[in-house]
Amino acid sequence: MGKNEILFERAQKVIPGGVNSPVRAFRQVGGTPRFVTKARGPYFWDAEDKRYIDLIMSWGPMIAGHANPEVVEAVKRAAETSFSYGAPTEGEIEIAERICQLVPSIEQMRMVSSGTEATMSALRLARGYTGRDLIIKFEGCYHGHADSLLVKAGSGLLTFADSTQNAPSSGGVPQDLVKHTLVLPYNDIAALEEVFKKQGSQIAAVIIEPFAGNMNLIKPSTEFLKTLRQLTSQHGSVLIYDEVMTGFRVALGGAQSLQGITPDLTCLGKVMGGGMPMAAFGGKKEIMSKLAPLGNVYQAGTLSGNPVAVAAGLKTLEIVSREGFYECLTGQTEKLMLGLKQAADEANIPFAVDSVGGMFGFYFAYQVPTSFEEVTKTDIEAFKKFFHLMLDQGVYLAPSAYEAGFTSIAHDNAVLEEIIAAAKVAFKQL
Ligand SMILES: Cc1ncc(COP(=O)(O)O)c(C=O)c1O
Repeated sequence: MGKNEILFERAQKVIPGGVNSPVRAFRQVGGTPRFVTKARGPYFWDAEDKRYIDLIMSWGPMIAGHANPEVVEAVKRAAETSFSYGAPTEGEIEIAERICQLVPSIEQMRMVSSGTEATMSALRLARGYTGRDLIIKFEGCYHGHADSLLVKAGSGLLTFADSTQNAPSSGGVPQDLVKHTLVLPYNDIAALEEVFKKQGSQIAAVIIEPFAGNMNLIKPSTEFLKTLRQLTSQHGSVLIYDEVMTGFRVALGGAQSLQGITPDLTCLGKVMGGGMPMAAFGGKKEIMSKLAPLGNVYQAGTLSGNPVAVAAGLKTLEIVSREGFYECLTGQTEKLMLGLKQAADEANIPFAVDSVGGMFGFYFAYQVPTSFEEVTKTDIEAFKKFFHLMLDQGVYLAPSAYEAGFTSIAHDNAVLEEIIAAAKVAFKQL
């Protein structure tokens, strides 16, 4: 038995499924998860000391590359002055000021420790602000694991759960709670219009992944987004952009800056913490002022605004703000996708690609899908084989066909060439 297998067996005795987040378990693709010992730049090494090119980058946060020396230095300095105070610090103001500047729809923000907390809190705030209960989410979008959001919730749940119509995608979620969550197909303007026509005055919020990344990468149409903004404004519903994945990943100003949409609230996570547990939600001051201690919507956290996480976040934001960062990241990601597409074409494999900033999707299909339903019709068996052929050659892709992939600024031309060369071998063997 290899060391990864030995560790996986050991892990399964004390951790359910051997992992602390379900998709890590390789359930969709089969095989043994790799246990990571260290990472640097675009690479990580597993327990058998095998090197992999990482195309997940901790599911998004590591945009500056693993163990980026500047971020490491900032974290070390912060750690020397204690890990947590439970009292306010200047660093929290600095990061909030910086984020408000980079994402102008955010007039005020509150920090939390995970994306799940950010979306859960944003929803409570939207409900408190509007005095309404109903929320709308879109099929295949994942917004963390808060109860009322675990309906048709993409990624891990798409891979594992039997998510039947109108039922929670997870056990332990009361049907009574889920009845306040309406689920609509992504990119379906008519469905959106119909629901607002019937129930507009009861809808507290619409939450959306502005580029969906939890059912592979799916982009919204401009018309869909325009309708969404228009209907929410018209009916006094709060539009929540869940940019936990897209924030500082697709552009410095997030998806909203590329789409020209001003949401009422935005959720952030992943990149903003540079790999440390940190997230935030923010938006219009009028809404944010309903939060305790100013208003009656309660929300709190022992480790919120943690100084070590703030240090990592501030340094990461400084790095991504440097001139040319997103041009380079976007260019490299596009180059990678083009290389994969050409390799697939040479082998006559139906294959489509898409990307935005440092986030990408590839699909074993003739065309890029536009909805959850279309994604589930792509060739999952081909994906599974491709995943393992790439893994064997030291390229680590997300272990599910329902996940987007991520690059970093450390993915230079030599790294891209290595990935494309591996893909050429893999496509020929499919
Ligand atoms: C769009 C989106 N929202 C929310 C979350 C939840 O974030 P976390 O895993 O930090 O709780 C995720 C996680 O992948 C996400 O992709």
